[in-house]
Amino acid sequence: MIGRRGTKGAKPVFEFRDIGDPTEPLLVVDDLHTSFRTGRGTVRAVDGVSLTVKAGTTLGIVGESGSGKTVLSRSIMGLLPTRDVIKSGTVHFAGHDLTALEPAQLRQVWGAELSMIFQDPMTALNPVKRIGRQITESLRLHLGMNRAEADATAVELLRSVGIPSPEDRVRWYPFQLSGGMRQRVMIAIALACAPRLVMADEPTTGLDVTVQAQILDLLGELQRERHMAVILVTHDLGVVANRADEIVVMYAGRVVERAPTHTLFANTHMPYTRALMDSIPRLSDPSGVRLQAIAGRPPDLIHPPEGCRFAPRCAYAQDKCRESDPPLRTAGSPDHLFACWFPLVHGTSTAPPAPSSGNGSSSAPPPTSAADTAIDPGAEVQSP
Ligand SMILES: Nc1ncnc2c1ncn2[C@@H]1O[C@H](COP(=O)(O)OP(=O)(O)OP(=O)(O)O)[C@@H](O)[C@H]1O
Ligand code: SF4
Ligand SMILES: [Mg+2]
Repeated sequence: MIGRRGTKGAKPVFEFRDIGDPTEPLLVVDDLHTSFRTGRGTVRAVDGVSLTVKAGTTLGIVGESGSGKTVLSRSIMGLLPTRDVIKSGTVHFAGHDLTALEPAQLRQVWGAELSMIFQDPMTALNPVKRIGRQITESLRLHLGMNRAEADATAVELLRSVGIPSPEDRVRWYPFQLSGGMRQRVMIAIALACAPRLVMADEPTTGLDVTVQAQILDLLGELQRERHMAVILVTHDLGVVANRADEIVVMYAGRVVERAPTHTLFANTHMPYTRALMDSIPRLSDPSGVRLQAIAGRPPDLIHPPEGCRFAPRCAYAQDKCRESDPPLRTAGSPDHLFACWFPLVHGTSTAPPAPSSGNGSSSAPPPTSAADTAIDPGAEVQSP
């Protein structure tokens, strides 16, 4: 495919390979590292992340605050400053290594093929430009539309994201809209040029629960209509539980578990993922019940602990966990990866029982059946 689909007059700046096989991943991130040089030392914000996203599917990226979700998203998009940033690894999108593109080539990809919905539309939208203009700029730049075509398309886009009276609202400024409406405008801008992949970084944080659901449902509908891939970044596993095909769980800059959504919920292996699940509010919870927060704090990314980075907070930690870093591996299901020496199996730890006397450091309950200990802690590492 040359340049942009439906391009009218715009110069094709570089070529995207046609994706004949729909099962071929649209995005392949391989061993991505992003660090920041600071006065205190080097912050390893993204530390060897690999993932793939197939065309038309949704990947959820989940983790606590500071786990590296935004830095990862921006690293994939190529949206980080170059000063004091150290990057390595590759990001192949539709067959192109984005990390090898010139800034001018990357600007052609942004908005057109790959776009981003930011957490805070008030800072992402230009406050002194009418919302219609913010949409038409992208249409004219990437699709080569004339002013009349772009104006008409902007109205239709606003209508498609549920903005009432879009013919009038195109002339409004961001401050004249509610938070939910501004987020809808952000979606309209992100989808204007029919990108193949949309990265949505906490797109509904700060909105009330009903509006959150409406916005996420809208994104899902538009995704299905347009066969877009979506990366949905959130600290809340509940947000992606029914929306993502696959989930990547991040902790301290690394992927600690990755699996198809159903598998992840049916047989969570990482105690950290389990803890995130326990912090999801459930309708069955009696009112007034406090959500279970994960005790302790995420590690310092300048001096992370030896061994498993979750060990200081993990109820199942053993000496081996503190001494040796668990690699990302599979056991049984090839598409279920986890980084844990003593994974949970159907809710039960495979950690050895704590000694009956002395200062056993594990508070883990002992395994309850042979079937529950099906994963050998020393199982061979398989590459992701
Ligand atoms: N420019 C920067 N310089 C130094 N450290 C940074 C910079 N940007 C991010 N970090 C650090 O990188 C780590 C990951 O940050 P990131 O914003 O990706 O977290 P996050 O998972 O998106 O969190 P949240 O859920 O709060 O948005 C944090 O420790 C953060 O302090
Ligand atoms: S059991 Fe050990 S390796 Fe697994 S998460 Fe806990 S501390 Fe880490
Ligand atoms: Mg973030």
